[in-house]
Amino acid sequence: MTKTDSVQRLPLVDLDWWQSNPGERDALFASLRADNPRPFVPLGTGPDGVVKGFWALTQHEDVVAVSRRPEDFGSGDGTQIFDQPQKLREYRGSIIDMDNPEHSRLRRIVSRGFTSRNLGALRGEVENTVLEILDQMPKSGECDFVSEFAAVLPLRIICELLGIPREHEAFLLEATNVILGASDAEYIPDQSAHGIGLAVTSASEELIRLLSGLAEARIENPEDDLISQLVAAKEDENLTPGEMARFFILLVGAGNETTRNVITHGLLTLTLFPDQRDKWLSDYEAHSRTAIEELLRWASPVVHMRRTVTRDGVMLGDQEFSKGDKVVMWYGSANRDESVFEDPFTFDIERDPNPHLAFGAPGPHFCLGAHLARLELDVAFRELFRRFPDIKAVGEPDRLRSNFLNGIKHLQATYTHTEAS
Ligand code: HEM
Repeated sequence: MTKTDSVQRLPLVDLDWWQSNPGERDALFASLRADNPRPFVPLGTGPDGVVKGFWALTQHEDVVAVSRRPEDFGSGDGTQIFDQPQKLREYRGSIIDMDNPEHSRLRRIVSRGFTSRNLGALRGEVENTVLEILDQMPKSGECDFVSEFAAVLPLRIICELLGIPREHEAFLLEATNVILGASDAEYIPDQSAHGIGLAVTSASEELIRLLSGLAEARIENPEDDLISQLVAAKEDENLTPGEMARFFILLVGAGNETTRNVITHGLLTLTLFPDQRDKWLSDYEAHSRTAIEELLRWASPVVHMRRTVTRDGVMLGDQEFSKGDKVVMWYGSANRDESVFEDPFTFDIERDPNPHLAFGAPGPHFCLGAHLARLELDVAFRELFRRFPDIKAVGEPDRLRSNFLNGIKHLQATYTHTEAS
């Protein structure tokens, strides 16, 4: 398959298309999986006359193969469709955009904070945080579920894990909305390239200032928190304050916006499929493991990740690639692949096995926070339904204008308010 054979007018980078009808998206990806699973999507012609663009990978098996082969499909040139300007790459240059040897060195250090021992100790904190947020839900029995619950939980947990004082929470929420919702005018009203660049750079700079300051303070006086573990725990292998700040920018995006969107899609989906909700609530613990995996598959909050081909002659199936070719893995499409999932468009909380790729496919970049995210989702839905068993989404979700995150900015919910017993 050559670029010219495969060129199609596909709206995969069209932000309005992503913000509108999800059914249309599902239908397009289903037809690609069936007829043209690796289309080339052109994005204009470079000064050298060469057509720029990317190969869109829509099938589960291709996403799995590419994620497993970092030596052929690298992350070091960036993991989003469009190359980031150099200045932004300096701010955001964390492990997700690295290849070995830097990736394995930094991943080894940051993994210290995500061991099962650390996470076991965190369960109690996650429970307390969820209960605290539920206590503050409006007594009117009506709310924007995103701002009152879904967005607060993951951010508060990350702050507690890292040891970031609560007073910074509102600023962090605003800054991450700007960075991850950059293509949405609600977060950056000036949608020119200049306006977006300015807003994202300034939010990133403020985050870096805050985190570098906290890291320097912990090097002087270590505390019992993740920042101290990462910057001051070992003689020879720690993050520098700058590396800590860049890792933090990755964490607030990778860990926050993703989990928040699964929680929000979760309430929406369980409202749309009351039989599945009733089944789960009839025995929460018995269904929890499979229900959460199905919510992750259904929501697929990260829309895509990119890799860049590292040498000429790399093969994927029977297709040959050249050095510098971009391949983009569409997780939502892989998670509806009919050759892997029976009735992929059916939401089934008992689906088992469920080899979804919402956290990426197995490989060196597989989500570092997958256990933490699963823990948060489990506690969040258990406590939410225990306190407000009749909570439901009302009206249409207000979707994020983004081709990177399957985000919901606002979702109205109603519930009968009860005090904690
Ligand atoms: C439902 C929630 C989440 C989803 C769907 C999700 C999804 C993803 C995906 C798709 C990747 C890229 C995988 C790849 O390129 O192969 C990733 C990487 C990552 N995630 Fe998550 N994530 C979630 C929650 C979290 C949380 C809670 C944290 C930490 C607090 C986290 C930290 C990371 C980090 C550090 C990476 C980069 C790993 C690397 O490059 O080595 N994520 N995640």
